[in-house]
Amino acid sequence: MCGIVGYVGSKSAVEILLDGLEQLEYRGYDSSGIALKCNDSINVYKAVGKLKNLREVLSNHTQEVNGANIGIGHIRWATHGAPTVVNAHPHTCNCGNLVVVHNGIIENYKELKEKLEALGCEFRSQTDTETVAHLVAQKYAQTKDLTKAVQLATKEIEGAYALAIMHNDEPDKLVITKRNAPLVVGIGEKEYYAASDIPAFIKHTNKAVYLSDNQVATITKDSLVIEDENGNNVPLKIEQLPWESVALSKMGYKHFMLKEIHEQPDVIRNILSGKLHTSLAPVELAEVMLTKESLKELNRIQIIACGTSLHAAMIGKYIIEDFCSIPVDVEASSEYIYRKTVTDDKTLVIGVSQSGETADTLTAIKQAKSRGSHILIITNRPDSAMAREADSLLSVNAGIEVSVAATKSYIAQLISFYLLAVYMAEIKGSKDANYLTKFKSDMLLLPQKIEEILAHKEVIQNCARKYSGTRDFIYIARGINYPTALEGALKLKEISYINATGYPAGELKHGPIAMLDDTMPVLSVLMKGNVYEKILSNSEEARARNARMIALTNSTDEKLNDLFDFIIKVPDVNELLSPIISIVPLQLIAYYIAEFLGKDVDQPRNLAKSVTVE
Ligand code: M6R
Repeated sequence: MCGIVGYVGSKSAVEILLDGLEQLEYRGYDSSGIALKCNDSINVYKAVGKLKNLREVLSNHTQEVNGANIGIGHIRWATHGAPTVVNAHPHTCNCGNLVVVHNGIIENYKELKEKLEALGCEFRSQTDTETVAHLVAQKYAQTKDLTKAVQLATKEIEGAYALAIMHNDEPDKLVITKRNAPLVVGIGEKEYYAASDIPAFIKHTNKAVYLSDNQVATITKDSLVIEDENGNNVPLKIEQLPWESVALSKMGYKHFMLKEIHEQPDVIRNILSGKLHTSLAPVELAEVMLTKESLKELNRIQIIACGTSLHAAMIGKYIIEDFCSIPVDVEASSEYIYRKTVTDDKTLVIGVSQSGETADTLTAIKQAKSRGSHILIITNRPDSAMAREADSLLSVNAGIEVSVAATKSYIAQLISFYLLAVYMAEIKGSKDANYLTKFKSDMLLLPQKIEEILAHKEVIQNCARKYSGTRDFIYIARGINYPTALEGALKLKEISYINATGYPAGELKHGPIAMLDDTMPVLSVLMKGNVYEKILSNSEEARARNARMIALTNSTDEKLNDLFDFIIKVPDVNELLSPIISIVPLQLIAYYIAEFLGKDVDQPRNLAKSVTVE
C-alpha cells in the first residue's frame, strides 16, 4: 500500500519522480505528492486523486522545480486519515526543513504523537506518518546528522515502514530505511533511485540493491552507503534485475487487465517449460526442497492466502487431496494469524501471493515458520519479502501484473498447484500412473484452449453488454469450480462495483434462492464431470424462480437451450483442469462490464495491488 520514490543525481528530478510514481500507481492512487530541493528550500507539492492532478499542480511551478536534482515522491492508499491534501505525503516537521514519505503503518503513532506534542510539535494531518517527520526532526536537532537521526528515530517506531527522508541542511542527501515493507535502491551512473518497487526505475537501470529490515541507506549522487541499525557498514549486494521495462506497456490493449488476460496462454507455456516437457516424463520441481522421504511423511498441508490467491489455494486443496490423499486446510491469512493453529514438522505450509508482500500472508507465514513447518511460497515475485521467508520457492513467472485485478497470476498459481500435486503424487505413488500421464498431456494442451476462448471473445462481450445494467450478479458452481464462482464474482465486484456473489450451487436453496426473481442474473459454471447433473438441477431451481440464466459450459447438450438465456461455450477439458478454462470467460465478463460502465478498470476505487497493511 502506498508507493514511495526517491531520486538523487544530475538530471531534473521532477519528471523522474512523477514517472516513477506512475509506475507505482498500482500500490495506491487516492492522492500523491513530491518534495524537491529547489534553491534555498525543500518545496512540497501535493494533490488529491490521480497522479494527473499532481502533474497539473506542478505545471504551475515549472520554473522553480525544473532545476531540482534531488527529491522524494509518494502515491497514497489512505489508512490513517481521509485522502486530502493535508494528509497526502510528503509530510514535514514544523519548520519545513525535514520532509518524509512513508509506506506502511506506524503502530505506536498515538503514543509518539503525545510525546511529540508535549515537546511542542504541532500536528497538521490525521496521518501516522507525520509523527515520523517530527520524531526525526527532534533527533536531528540533537545529532545534526540525518542518518544518525533516522537510526535513533526508528528505534522508537513500532510497525511497518519504508521511509525516504530529506533535510534542507543536508541538501544533497537522501536517507532511506525500511522494516516489513519493500524498498529497493536502483543504481545508475552517478545517480540513484529509491522505490517501493522496481518498475519505478527499471527504465533507467537494472542494477539494484534490496534493503533488509532496519538497514539505513545514505544516498548522494556519488555514493550509496548502507548501515545496520547500529551504524555498522553493510557491504552492497548488487543484483541484476529480471524485469524488462517493455512488460509495463499496454502493447496496444486498452487496459492492462485485457493485456494480462491475453497473456495467459504464454504464461502457462512459460511455467510448464522446464517442469513438464512431455506427458511421459515425471514433473520436475527442483524448487521443492523437501526430501522425498519427508514429502512422503507429510501428514497435513495448510495453505494461506488472500483474495484471488485464496481462490487458487482452494483449487490447490481440491487437487492435492485428490492426487495425494493428504488433508489440506485452506484459510484466509487474516484469520489464520489470530487463532491457535496446529502445525508441526510434518505439516507443509504453503503461502500463495502474487505480490509476495501481502502483510496478512507474510505475518501468517512467519508465524508458521516459527513453529518449525516447512514453508513453500508460490509467488510471482521471487524478489519479495515472502520469497525471502521460503524454504521452498515456487516462482510462477507470470511477468509483472499491473492491473489491480489479478488474472494471469491466478492462472499461474493454478498451474503451479497442478504441477505440485502431480509432482507429489508421482513421488508418493498415490495416483494411478496412466491417469497422471493423460492428465499431464491435457495440461500441455491448456494454452491452445485458452487461445480458442480468446479468439471468440465477442460472444463474451455480447453477454457482458446484455447484463451490464444489473445491480446484482450470482455465480453458482460445485466441486473444483466452486472457487471459480468465487473468483468470477470477485473480479466483477472489484472492477464494476456490482454486488456479485459466488455460491456453491447446492447452497442456493438454503437461503440465497430468496433473492431470485426476473431481474437477477445467475451464471452457472457447468463443466462436464462429477457434479454436472447436480449443477443442472440447481440451475433448474433458479430458472423456476425466473432468474436470468447464463451457462458457462463445455457441454453440447441441446436441452441447455431451454434452460439458459445465454450460453458461453468453452473447449472440452478434463474436469479437474476445468478451472483454468472456466475462469477466462469470467475475467472477460468482468472486464467488459466494467468497460461498458466506464469504470477505471486497472485502478478500481479503494483498492491497491499490493496490500502491505494488516
Ligand atoms: O499479492 P497477493 O496475491 O497476496 O494479493 C492478495 C489479494 O489482495 C489480491 O488477490 C486481490 O484480491 C486482487 N485485487 C484480486 O484481483
